[in-house]
Amino acid sequence: MRRPLIAGNWKMHLTIPAARALAAAVGKAAAGVTDRDVLIAPPFTALAAVREAAGSGVLLAGQNVCWEEQGAFTGEIAPTMLKELGCAMAIVGHSERRQLFGETNGLINQRVAGALKFGLIPILCIGETLREREAGTTFTVLEAQLKEGLAGVTLASADQLVVAYEPVWAIGTGKTATAAQAQEVHAFVRQTLGSLFEKNIAGQMRILYGGSVNPANVDELMRQADVDGALVGGAALKAESFERIIHFQ
Ligand code: PGA
Repeated sequence: MRRPLIAGNWKMHLTIPAARALAAAVGKAAAGVTDRDVLIAPPFTALAAVREAAGSGVLLAGQNVCWEEQGAFTGEIAPTMLKELGCAMAIVGHSERRQLFGETNGLINQRVAGALKFGLIPILCIGETLREREAGTTFTVLEAQLKEGLAGVTLASADQLVVAYEPVWAIGTGKTATAAQAQEVHAFVRQTLGSLFEKNIAGQMRILYGGSVNPANVDELMRQADVDGALVGGAALKAESFERIIHFQ
């Protein structure tokens, strides 16, 4: 019922020639794939090259997005600028933005609203730190990230928003959440979304798992009832491993 989405977050990696080469390989890997969506979020500087090299079978996303269309916002990228480059989506609230750049739920909420206003689908990232998990506050933290990040947001349909659960302790560490841990949280996320939006919208919304997804663990993660896709960092930087993840079974 929910169409799987496999997304590669390239973070601050790859020059334009390297991005072009990897995008072409992803385009090839995604060719003929009709039962799932494949997406790349390259650095802003490589978007145009990636658009050209990946072909129309691959969706594109910005790694962040501002809420204004233009103005004095040094260092920011407008939703319309991303759309101009062929982006359908934008990652918002990634834990690296929260932890390294001080982005708060309130700021992230502005980004979500701005993306939606200009017809860009936000991929809202949420996730608890190891300390929060060990303190038993995982659900409280995630609930606040969802409620504050989505405050004032109304949706006409489930495909206007994607949520990505990325436990901070699993990002780039090689320590994936177990499939059971992921499912437990995803079910909670869907239930919380059900309190914010209409039940059928929450039921149809895609919830991605992210955090050390790789060719060896993707199949089991994707078998979980509420895991609708993956947000992949490190393993998305190699054509071979991302291809295997795209073709999860
Ligand atoms: P990782 O990154 O796959 O390298 O853990 C995931 C992410 O940060 O989106």
